[in-house]
Amino acid sequence: MVNIEKMTTQHLVDVIGLSVAQEQQRFVGTIEEILRCINAQIRPHVILVEDKVVGFFLIDTVYAKKLEIIKIKSLGLCSFFISQLHQGKGYAKQAILALPNYLSEAYPNASHLYLTVNCQNAIAKELYLKGGFEDTNNLYHGGPSGPQHIMVRKLALNSEVKH
Ligand SMILES: CC(C)(COP(=O)(O)OP(=O)(O)OC[C@H]1O[C@@H](n2cnc3c(N)ncnc32)[C@H](O)[C@@H]1OP(=O)(O)O)[C@@H](O)C(=O)NCCC(=O)NCCS
Repeated sequence: MVNIEKMTTQHLVDVIGLSVAQEQQRFVGTIEEILRCINAQIRPHVILVEDKVVGFFLIDTVYAKKLEIIKIKSLGLCSFFISQLHQGKGYAKQAILALPNYLSEAYPNASHLYLTVNCQNAIAKELYLKGGFEDTNNLYHGGPSGPQHIMVRKLALNSEVKH
């Protein structure tokens, strides 16, 4: 079963060992590039299976600054990936399905979760649709690898979270 946790220094050695296939790097970059994005507002998270780190993502708490269409009380999901050796085992789907409850607890004021996914990344788009995201039918043109779909998923207010 997949667990999501805020990344701590304890995870660092495992996180540095994560990687995606070379042809997937255009979608998320390298782990070194991703780790350089972390700051007080862009927070790292790990995806764990039996206490082993298998994946990673960033939560951008000021994502609304990135795009006009984004609602103010929103979070952004960025750099979401499962490490190459652990792909195809259902971990991404489990993590995406677990994310709304986790985020509603960790960020109780957030109403929506946004992300952008490269138009050539059909596997990831399909994953997000299965995880309850909708395509806003708007494109983001700011990425280095071509246009990206902007997708959104509503988050429950903390009082609505089901345990
Ligand atoms: C996209 C990614 C996160 C999927 O991770 P994963 O753990 O392999 O995915 P899962 O095994 O949980 O599969 C989830 C869904 O993805 C799709 N999928 C996964 N691998 C697939 C493949 N090889 N071919 C087609 N669809 C695939 C399927 O829709 C699958 O759903 P299903 O199990 O109901 O068929 C992973 O490929 C990855 O890290 N890619 C590189 C980074 C990236 O592109 N991140 C997204 C940035 S927006």
